[in-house]
Amino acid sequence: MPALCSPNKATRRMNVLGIETTCDETAAAIVAPAEGEGETRGIVRANEVLSQIAEHAAYGGVVPEIAARAHVEVLDRLIARALDRAGLRLAELDGIAVAAGPGLIGGVLVGLVTAKTLALVARKPLLAVNHLEAHALTARLTDGLAFPYLLLLASGGHTQLVAVKGVGDYVRLGSTIDDAIGEAFDKVAKLLGLAYPGGPEVERMAEAGDPERFALPRPMLGRKRADFSLSGLKTALRIEAERIAPLAERDVADLCAGFQAAVVDVVVDRVRVALRDFANVAGHPTALVAAGGVAANGALRRALAAQAGEAGLAFVAPPLNLCGDNGAMIAWAGIERLRLGLTDDLTAPARARWPFAAELKAAG
Ligand code: KG4
Ligand code: ZN
Repeated sequence: MPALCSPNKATRRMNVLGIETTCDETAAAIVAPAEGEGETRGIVRANEVLSQIAEHAAYGGVVPEIAARAHVEVLDRLIARALDRAGLRLAELDGIAVAAGPGLIGGVLVGLVTAKTLALVARKPLLAVNHLEAHALTARLTDGLAFPYLLLLASGGHTQLVAVKGVGDYVRLGSTIDDAIGEAFDKVAKLLGLAYPGGPEVERMAEAGDPERFALPRPMLGRKRADFSLSGLKTALRIEAERIAPLAERDVADLCAGFQAAVVDVVVDRVRVALRDFANVAGHPTALVAAGGVAANGALRRALAAQAGEAGLAFVAPPLNLCGDNGAMIAWAGIERLRLGLTDDLTAPARARWPFAAELKAAG
């Protein structure tokens, strides 16, 4: 038995609290690295998420002031519950991670001030995490993925294709020049009288629809840079909807199916371009990864899985509860940073805007 250099079994696991309040989900989670030498993945020991969907539904979108107040009301209890679920006391944590941006500044401040207070009182390292970086690293939490990989980050506020080369080392290969994909889903849903948030509603309606009834455009198809544009598609859909109004349920289903099919075609084309550019900045990717709320879309997941297969790549998308905003991804990004000694002090700012990836330099 190799007794001499076996790892010390008594070593206590690292436990990090993650706090997320950048948009309309209040979340607190506790994550620990999995056992074993060189292990990348994590174990989610508690993952508490409270959605504010009901508070914002009447407005068809997130109202910043309402969001901030709702975070204040529930965050302390949510953190207590996460600690309870994980069977830990504050003193037993190894770090306090919080999304310090980008996002709605009132909400970000609620999370950040709470995290700073806990870090100060319990004398724990503070980890001020970029929310987008946390989405980007979730595939390592769930699947132990090695760097580098191509990430499609698609949420209500962001749409980017990023070469993820290492912790803190990201190159943006493309992004949207107008609407984010999730935003486009939400706007189309609103236009068609569907509930908020629109993504899941549009997907549900699309299941029964005919994607070919309406000839909708595929903006940016064939463009050299892996950028997106969705406002033209949204406008084309509005014109079709107005042309045939009033809309029967069948019409709404066909419009949803047509819209979703167009988005999937555009994404697959943009990912193709990004895969080509990836080689110049990061070599050969280990996988194609989808993250952010839109990655919950089944049609998109299927198309990306097929595309990855054709390119000889693994396809990784987090389970649905880790696609949308959550505290576990913040805790995990905190663990990745803590391992590298990248802690923050109490002057860490709250940031409404916080780009996390370097811009791709124009290739010759
Ligand atoms: O990442 P996320 O939870 O929050 C941020 O925006 O940061 O993403 C929410 C977005 C919303 O726009 C929502 O409509 C979209 O993700 N979404 C979907 C689906 N589920 C959520 N879009 C398309 N299909 C879905 N199934
Ligand atoms: Zn998000």
